[in-house]
Amino acid sequence: MSPRDRERCGAHILARDFLDRTASPDYGSGPQIPGKKSRPVRLGSGGTEMKPDRRDFLNTLLGGAGWAMLGGCATTMQSCQQQIANRPVRRNVTTLGASHPILTAYASAITQMKALPASDPRNWTNQARIHNDHCPHGNWLFLPWHRAYLLYFERICRKLSGMADFALPYWNWTQSPSVPAPFWSGALLDTNRFATASSVASSANVGATVMSSIMAETNFLTFASGDIPAAAGQRTASTYGRLEGTPHNYVHGFVGGDMGAFMSPLDPVFWAHHNMIERCWVQWNFDLDRLNTSSNDWLHREFTEFCDENGNPVTVSVLTTLLFPVFSYRYDDVGPGAPGAGAPAADTKAEQDASSRKAKASASIRLDVQKRFAVTQPVAASIDKPAVVQLPVDPASLRSDGGRTLLAFDGATLDHTEDFSVRVFLNKPDATAATPPEDPHFAGAFAFFQHAAAGAATTAGHDHGAGNFVLDVGDVLKRLDIAGGTIALTLVLVPFPGRQLKTRDLSITTTELRLARDVIEPRP
Ligand code: C2O
Repeated sequence: MSPRDRERCGAHILARDFLDRTASPDYGSGPQIPGKKSRPVRLGSGGTEMKPDRRDFLNTLLGGAGWAMLGGCATTMQSCQQQIANRPVRRNVTTLGASHPILTAYASAITQMKALPASDPRNWTNQARIHNDHCPHGNWLFLPWHRAYLLYFERICRKLSGMADFALPYWNWTQSPSVPAPFWSGALLDTNRFATASSVASSANVGATVMSSIMAETNFLTFASGDIPAAAGQRTASTYGRLEGTPHNYVHGFVGGDMGAFMSPLDPVFWAHHNMIERCWVQWNFDLDRLNTSSNDWLHREFTEFCDENGNPVTVSVLTTLLFPVFSYRYDDVGPGAPGAGAPAADTKAEQDASSRKAKASASIRLDVQKRFAVTQPVAASIDKPAVVQLPVDPASLRSDGGRTLLAFDGATLDHTEDFSVRVFLNKPDATAATPPEDPHFAGAFAFFQHAAAGAATTAGHDHGAGNFVLDVGDVLKRLDIAGGTIALTLVLVPFPGRQLKTRDLSITTTELRLARDVIEPRP
């Protein structure tokens, strides 16, 4: 079965599935829950609720041509399901031998994309330009946009390489914190990288401890980045969710070179990095049963900048991307249809149905901030001089709160491009770049991506200059038995390994401890 037929099957099942679902009177038509917010700023309102109309749904999903596809597959439903059950597997790159067909196919596809004329949208540089010109960062479109970007790129690779079950490999940087060996030769090499084959990404940003804390997030907004209104451009800045602000941004800077900026897809490792981010989202939804937002502002957002494997433009909505992991690919270890350790197991029809229900499960999600304790002045730190600031926190509120304790950094700017990540310590005023993230006072880390000097390098409504970040410090407060009073915050700038530093200074407009509540109301 060709990839196109496979997609046709997917479209068919999508349509059938949505027909079933939308025929039920309770889908998304429940009462609107009025936003009961106590000053939700940038992270939290969640937008309006989903009130789907059956025809809208199908149009969104299938477009005009979708109806034609329905006929094409109707008589061979069973074999369609088989094909979907055996959809291509995205594998951990470090488990593949150097001459594995996936790596050979990936290299061949890249070589061919580089040879395509500049007039072809599948041309290697043109693919990177899609990212350069359109990628949303620091808002809740980050995950679905990159999911769609990867899917269409994967299809281009499949077609050009001729490998019918080609699927992009992923780089699990938690397990293997150095750029994997296959990316150091042939078409998978990018000679601009700052990292070398022996550079090791910091556990502060990609290690098992921080990753399990991020995966334990139940609030979509703090996991997947903050909300923006439907009418706002897709590059409008909100707050970086922890997945984006910590491992995602860090790995871009850690690899450096092309990876440090918006032409980063010129580095073949970009796709393996984002495939890992995608794997985290799949695991979060399907294995950990976390809910995405039900906001229409998110679900009905459409992207029009991608092209399919034939170079034709496509339009894809966020809603449609939710079903990609059920119909178009699977991971070797997590999510729907994961083959697991043993023989590749195909998912049954019942499993596929359960997965597509899960894919569409959603909730009205907010982050309600109850109290704020702010550092009175902007924070300034430089490479050789950590910032130590005092944060006065009312012990009574902290004691009685019982919700989440978040440390928010708003308006973070650098004096140049990003060359470091930021580590935060509580009540350890003597912390330095040498203080390990295993120290009990370590509260978290964040990093920058495509940040430049404030005011410089700002393109078409894209604010490259400032970022808003958030850490969850509940665990560290408990561990250190901090019950309020004055908390000392130390911000340490830690250079990426082996880097010639240009960036020296960081400033942050607002630093706050926020007592907040997750409000997650599942849709019926
Ligand atoms: Cu839009 Cu990690 O890049």
